[in-house]
Amino acid sequence: MAKLILSPKILNVLDFGTPSAERDISRGLEKYFVESAAYQRLRSGAKTILMGNRGAGKSAIFKVLAKRERAAGSHVIELSPEDYSYELLSSTLAAESAGSWVKQGAYAAAWKYLIYILVMKELAKKGMRLTKGGGREIHRYIRDHHGARQLGTLALLVSYLKRLEAVKLGPIEAGLRTHELDRLYKLEEIHDLLPSLCRVLDDQRVVIFVDELDRGWDSSEDAKAFVSGLFQACVSINGLHPNMRVYVSLRQELYDDIPALYEDAQKHRDLMEKISWTEESLLELIAKRIRYSAREKGFEADALERAEDRVCWSAVFAPPPGTSWDGSFAYMVDRTLYRPRELIQFCSEALEQARERTTRLPVPHSAIERSEYGYSAERAKDIAAEYRSQYPGLLSVFEVFRGRPPAFGRDELELLCLELACGDIPTRGTASWLASCDPDDLIEILWRAGLLAAQPAPGGRFLGSHQVQHLNLGAVRRFRVHEMFHASLGIAERTG
Ligand SMILES: Nc1ncnc2c1ncn2[C@@H]1O[C@H](COP(=O)(O)OP(=O)(O)OP(=O)(O)O)[C@@H](O)[C@H]1O
Ligand SMILES: [Mg+2]
Repeated sequence: MAKLILSPKILNVLDFGTPSAERDISRGLEKYFVESAAYQRLRSGAKTILMGNRGAGKSAIFKVLAKRERAAGSHVIELSPEDYSYELLSSTLAAESAGSWVKQGAYAAAWKYLIYILVMKELAKKGMRLTKGGGREIHRYIRDHHGARQLGTLALLVSYLKRLEAVKLGPIEAGLRTHELDRLYKLEEIHDLLPSLCRVLDDQRVVIFVDELDRGWDSSEDAKAFVSGLFQACVSINGLHPNMRVYVSLRQELYDDIPALYEDAQKHRDLMEKISWTEESLLELIAKRIRYSAREKGFEADALERAEDRVCWSAVFAPPPGTSWDGSFAYMVDRTLYRPRELIQFCSEALEQARERTTRLPVPHSAIERSEYGYSAERAKDIAAEYRSQYPGLLSVFEVFRGRPPAFGRDELELLCLELACGDIPTRGTASWLASCDPDDLIEILWRAGLLAAQPAPGGRFLGSHQVQHLNLGAVRRFRVHEMFHASLGIAERTG
């Protein structure tokens, strides 16, 4: 394959973008966005619940969808962390144990109420043409009920929950309670407006995005009911009219932390899309960023446009000594869990390192190596933080692998896990979960978190949970600490 030599000037202007979609969207994300099959299924509406790990690209899909919907004239409502606070919910509402709350159902009703109100408010905004169809009724309702009193998003949700709470836990006669609850669950206040809303939606479209539900996640009863109620509401609202669509994103660990969700998985499974990346699609993602950045700065646009992804890559990153011309891609992607944010960060740091010592491209392998320790340490910390509510203190479990050889036989690993669970090897902050883990559980946790890769067939490839969905871990005889953690844990290949 033809190699590409780039102008040395590109070294100074090259830019892989920012690590989060919220910032990337104003810098051209749409132009270098990778349109995966997952994106297509969300766009078509076949899927509305987006699952993915941190940095896998949930917000990227939502931001690009939102931008394209706006460009097509749709109304777009984006709900973000400022709009929900788990702490506030827990401190405002009575606990489940205070009475027959059944919070998930209450949250589902409150979410439906909130979303319908937000949609109607959006449609009734000043200047909107709502005279046709059911517009007048909606306008009147919003003016009369939500005109003077402008409650914020969370306050609206809480106000409805408070109404439910008052009926459920308040001093009300039993017969009346059932009647009142029925009214609240059926959203009686707005129920009669739904046919009008449908008529308005016949020629207007509203799309709602609920992202970053994990921000401030505290694993509380309210947090769990908040998210599982949202799932229920989402399924119900999306059934009303094809021109109204609610999209929700969720991190895998959060999903696993909410029993009500995975126990009910069959109800939403057909709506759920999980983001996954391959080496090829990650290569495409970086190549697009290289081309875009060079073109924006006016360099070598044609040559890069014509070049294949791998050629673009190797024009920027030189291979490790003794590997093939494009070996640096394998080197870097092997140090990720196949999440775009990781590769963007690693590439950006290597580029920074290169700028300090050289004036030409490609970035020498030594610059990649110099950036590796910082990258690796950051990743270990971030991964442990992702699990802080389920497995607090996970970083101190990672630490146990410090300085050891990279690969383990099953027996050796089981023994290590047993010593960890028994406390023979001390860890910090793990008391709530580690002692009850048997070796198989801990191996599974470490494999899911990304620290360990497993070798399903003797002599074959080691596979991480980012590469295969399911693996019979019980049958695996050999494991290996993933390369991403090697630099920070001082793990070295022993040669010879
Ligand atoms: N399909 C894509 N095409 C181009 N860039 C992408 C794509 N998906 C993700 N990215 C980039 O990867 C980085 C991480 O993506 P994003 O911020 O969407 O992750 P996230 O899943 O929302 O993470 P978090 O859980 O932290 O919110 C961003 O820089 C984003 O622009
Ligand atoms: Mg995000």
